[in-house]
Amino acid sequence: MNSLKATNLSKSYVTSHESIDVLDDINLSISLNDQIAISGNSGSGKSTLLHLLAALDTPTSGKILIDETNIEDFTKTDISSLRLNNFGFVYQFHHLLEDLNVIENILIPGQLANNNPDLKESAYELAEMIGLSHRLNHLPWKLSGGEKQRVAIARALINKPKIIFLDEPTGNLDEKNAEIIQNLLFEMSTKHGVALVAATHDNKFIRNFKTIYKLENKKLNEI
Ligand SMILES: Nc1ncnc2c1ncn2[C@@H]1O[C@H](COP(=O)(O)OP(=O)(O)OP(=O)(O)O)[C@@H](O)[C@H]1O
Ligand SMILES: [Mg+2]
Repeated sequence: MNSLKATNLSKSYVTSHESIDVLDDINLSISLNDQIAISGNSGSGKSTLLHLLAALDTPTSGKILIDETNIEDFTKTDISSLRLNNFGFVYQFHHLLEDLNVIENILIPGQLANNNPDLKESAYELAEMIGLSHRLNHLPWKLSGGEKQRVAIARALINKPKIIFLDEPTGNLDEKNAEIIQNLLFEMSTKHGVALVAATHDNKFIRNFKTIYKLENKKLNEI
């Protein structure tokens, strides 16, 4: 996979008594090496957009093309494999598996992909990089918010994705840990050509990105 292109993307959430229009006619191209930040007020649709781009939700209209192929033409298996092998996703609310400890959470996508003979070493290395080597056996409920966020980031990196989607990745981190995570992400991006697509309010984090967009009134504009 070399590129992801969203064209004329719109999203409305339809409930029993209303339709909430969140995104209207959004166009965005992501190539490897890109470093894209998406800013915008709370409720402007940042998480919605990331979920659409990462094929975790479907648009009301518009297309998402992976190297020119519309993901509508993908089977469920194709989509799972696209996500497992090419995307890393850091959810706004982590979504760690509660019955698995730190190292097991980091390992999960690698075990599903089953294509890295050095998986365990990679997981320990990532745990070290995020500063959690001393918490490998902790279940998520025994971790602080920032520690959970760091585990979620390591989990998103274990399969060496082509695009990492990050939904407020530094929201729970103190300055020092935010900087460690920031350096780790940008180093992966510059060294290995990984594209970063991050929704964030964090001004210190935002200014490292090559391209900055703002979501406002359902539209995405470069700033
Ligand atoms: N499943 C849903 N059903 C109905 N409305 C929804 C749903 N998910 C989100 N919304 C609404 O869509 C709008 C955009 O939500 P979204 O979570 O994308 O915003 P956000 O920019 O990520 O906000 P924040 O910065 O607070 O995380 C909000 O007004 C929200 O209430
Ligand atoms: Mg959000």
